[in-house]
Amino acid sequence: MTKTLTQMAVEVLTTADGREKTALSHEHAAAWFAARKAGTPIPVGTATPPLRPARPEKPELLDPRDVPRRRPGSPAGRIAILHAVAHIELNAVDLHWDIIARFGHVPMPPGFYDDWVKSADEESKHFNLICDCLEAMGSHYGALPAHAGMWRAAEDTRDDILGRLAVVPMVLEARGLDVTPGMIDIFEKAGEDGAVAALRTIYAEEVGHVAYGSKWFHFLCGRDNLDPKDVFHDLVRTYFHGALKPPFNEEKRAEAGLPPDFYWPLAD
Ligand SMILES: [Fe+2]
Ligand SMILES: [Fe+2]
Repeated sequence: MTKTLTQMAVEVLTTADGREKTALSHEHAAAWFAARKAGTPIPVGTATPPLRPARPEKPELLDPRDVPRRRPGSPAGRIAILHAVAHIELNAVDLHWDIIARFGHVPMPPGFYDDWVKSADEESKHFNLICDCLEAMGSHYGALPAHAGMWRAAEDTRDDILGRLAVVPMVLEARGLDVTPGMIDIFEKAGEDGAVAALRTIYAEEVGHVAYGSKWFHFLCGRDNLDPKDVFHDLVRTYFHGALKPPFNEEKRAEAGLPPDFYWPLAD
């Protein structure tokens, strides 16, 4: 019997090693799109994802306050930045499979799954690109401690698909659009061409993930005749802890379907 998409998602979520998790993610994405193209789509089904995804033994996960500060001017500081990015990308792989697995019971058009499978596949590529850079610099993912709090948004919104879309792609991934250009600058100044290329790929593809979030958020609000802006403000205030931090990348946010009246009222 063929596996369902939600079963495939759970397989990725329960694989601990980063390289293995991302290889499986890529394999499942390829199978999903091949079946769609052949006109014999893989059924979505329903499955029970773990509350938290499996993770490798390293990195050690610390409270954000205890993660050592990075000084971008030094090679060690740049390794620390890339290590933090690798950690974000690995979480992002799981976040995109988790939205598929977690909400299999909510009827959605096939394009919803296409978007998140594609995003998960891109995150898998991002993780591997950054791991390759770390290894080229004599380090690796797991060499430094990382943020423990990153799965909190997923846990908080495990019963609320609108809350999940509001907080994960439309707040957290949108924040990535704000901060990535500054990161690219740091690596350009240091002449680290490999990292610059990897971060440019990430920057270009993350616009799409925010856009998918906004698209399906608006779709669900429209299906229930809700005002998307008001619902967004309510959900972010419920599930996101703290204010949004300007400066915002207004141009890329606009490209991703996030208008200023969505995020400015939530800023400091
Ligand atoms: Fe990414
Ligand atoms: Fe993303």
